[in-house]
Amino acid sequence: MPPPGPVQEKIAMPGVKNVVAVASGKGGVGKSTVATNLALALHMLGRRVGLLDADIYGPSIPIMMGVSEVFDPNTTQFPLDRYGIKLMSMGFVVKPETAMIWRGPMVHKYITAFLTQINWGELDYLVIDLPPGTGDAQLTLTQTAPLSGAVIVTTPQEVSLIDARKGLEMFNQVRVPVIGIVENMSYFVSGDGKRHEIFGHGGGKKLAQETGVPFLGEIPMDPDIVKCGDSGDPIVHKLPDSPIAKTYLSLATLVSEQVTKSSNAAAELPTLQL
Ligand SMILES: Nc1ncnc2c1ncn2[C@@H]1O[C@H](COP(=O)(O)OP(=O)(O)OP(=O)(O)O)[C@@H](O)[C@H]1O
Ligand SMILES: [Mg+2]
Repeated sequence: MPPPGPVQEKIAMPGVKNVVAVASGKGGVGKSTVATNLALALHMLGRRVGLLDADIYGPSIPIMMGVSEVFDPNTTQFPLDRYGIKLMSMGFVVKPETAMIWRGPMVHKYITAFLTQINWGELDYLVIDLPPGTGDAQLTLTQTAPLSGAVIVTTPQEVSLIDARKGLEMFNQVRVPVIGIVENMSYFVSGDGKRHEIFGHGGGKKLAQETGVPFLGEIPMDPDIVKCGDSGDPIVHKLPDSPIAKTYLSLATLVSEQVTKSSNAAAELPTLQL
């Protein structure tokens, strides 16, 4: 873990009520899939929602939300709008190959620009899809973005749980409340209705209990999640009545309950006259 840097100034986003980061220590556990479907589920619940892809090196949101073009930033109004969600990603302005060469300070510069120079308008939720890891880029981002809280995604395996714990520590370090933990790829239901716990089971819940943060639920492994994500029409939008979409909807409900709880708790804190 890098030593804590100087505390950064928080960026103000007056039109955005809640900024929620979706994070994990480990790569490939399903952050972008959770962020995308969570954004769409919050929208289904009637909220005004934006989705910011903070993965400058490996943006996934363009593919998952079905945006394949690269736009000229001088003539394009960002954020884009897809399925009722306001969207921004580095993948909208540069080809994925180019994005690979950005260095740390550039990443920070672009994220700051995405947060401050884009007209997000009035939003109830801005969901931020974080890049994997707990290095400098993530630390700076979590310090500067006005985060209401973070959703930690893990898979049931020990290697993923160890990294999820690192993610939790990072948010504690920068004093961002953890909204809760989601266990993704939790189990698989085969055609005969049998449940298979391929990667083991219950690790996410156990980690939540041990660290005292809410457990937000289990998302099964499902080939439709991959198909929908790869084809640019996420499952919550494409198959809104499917059991999987319902799982994301209950995740969205829990997230909004937790965010309301923690903002009420913050509002109840006495104002100190120093
Ligand atoms: N519940 C699930 N069932 C089946 N496949 C899933 C599930 N969740 C995510 N996936 C698939 O796993 C792959 C990785 O997911 P995703 O890109 O969301 O992970 P990530 O954590 O954002 O990765 P990275 O760390 O590279 O940003 C994708 O192909 C996605 O479709
Ligand atoms: Mg991702």
